[in-house]
Amino acid sequence: MPKYFAIIPAAGFGSRMENQLPKQYLPLSGKPMIYHAVDTFCRSALIHQVFIVLSPQDTQWQQYDWNVYDEKLTVLYQGGATRAESVLNGLIEAPNNYPVTAQDWILVHDAARPLFTQNQLKHLIEAVGDDPVGGLLAIPIADTLKRSNSDNCVAQTESRDNLWQAQTPQMFRYQMLVDALSNNTHQNVTDDASAIEALGLHPKLVHNRDYNFKVTYPQDLELAEIIIKTRNNP
Ligand code: CTP
Ligand code: MG
Repeated sequence: MPKYFAIIPAAGFGSRMENQLPKQYLPLSGKPMIYHAVDTFCRSALIHQVFIVLSPQDTQWQQYDWNVYDEKLTVLYQGGATRAESVLNGLIEAPNNYPVTAQDWILVHDAARPLFTQNQLKHLIEAVGDDPVGGLLAIPIADTLKRSNSDNCVAQTESRDNLWQAQTPQMFRYQMLVDALSNNTHQNVTDDASAIEALGLHPKLVHNRDYNFKVTYPQDLELAEIIIKTRNNP
């Protein structure tokens, strides 16, 4: 039976958050933002090991006490210039720290999606099942889509039929994901699925009905705080 592993790329700087501190360490509900995703994966019996990919220059991770997760957490200071590079570097390094085989599942999850829960994790793993390719959490686009011209005026309205917003986790077999990202780190790959798609494969879109947005702008952090507070005190 293939095993399930999580890899959390957290080597970005969060430039759109406009804060000195990389966004994965900004406080959210009394913890650094990355803690929330780490906690969901580490507490899940479905997940064998959790790999965190940090920038080689990271000084923040060690400021916190991660002992509660003990040996389930492996920290790799191997982040690259892009998200795709960070993920690939982590994937290549992971088997030196823990036995990972070609057919094992890798769930790649952004450190900046702190609202990811155990239920979402179960839903994704069940929906993907033993799919030969893999899949990702996603939501159908709700808003009307406008394409702009160079002056930020509307050039045209785009149909939103069959359009989805990709989230994470995105789960693929270890070797397929390594092969896909090895081919694609120099192209415009902002998620793992697009590297798989470039191989001519079709990842499964798994409709997520719960909050799991990426914290990108300052107002996203405020909303995430409210949602966590409400979940804790329904
Ligand atoms: N990431 C990474 N290595 C990079 C760039 C991004 O590991 N070179 C990680 C981020 O830390 C984050 C995830 O990929 O957990 C999603 O990326 P994004 O939301 O774009 O984060 P940043 O790149 O940090 O933010 P920004 O694009 O606003 O600078
Ligand atoms: Mg980025």
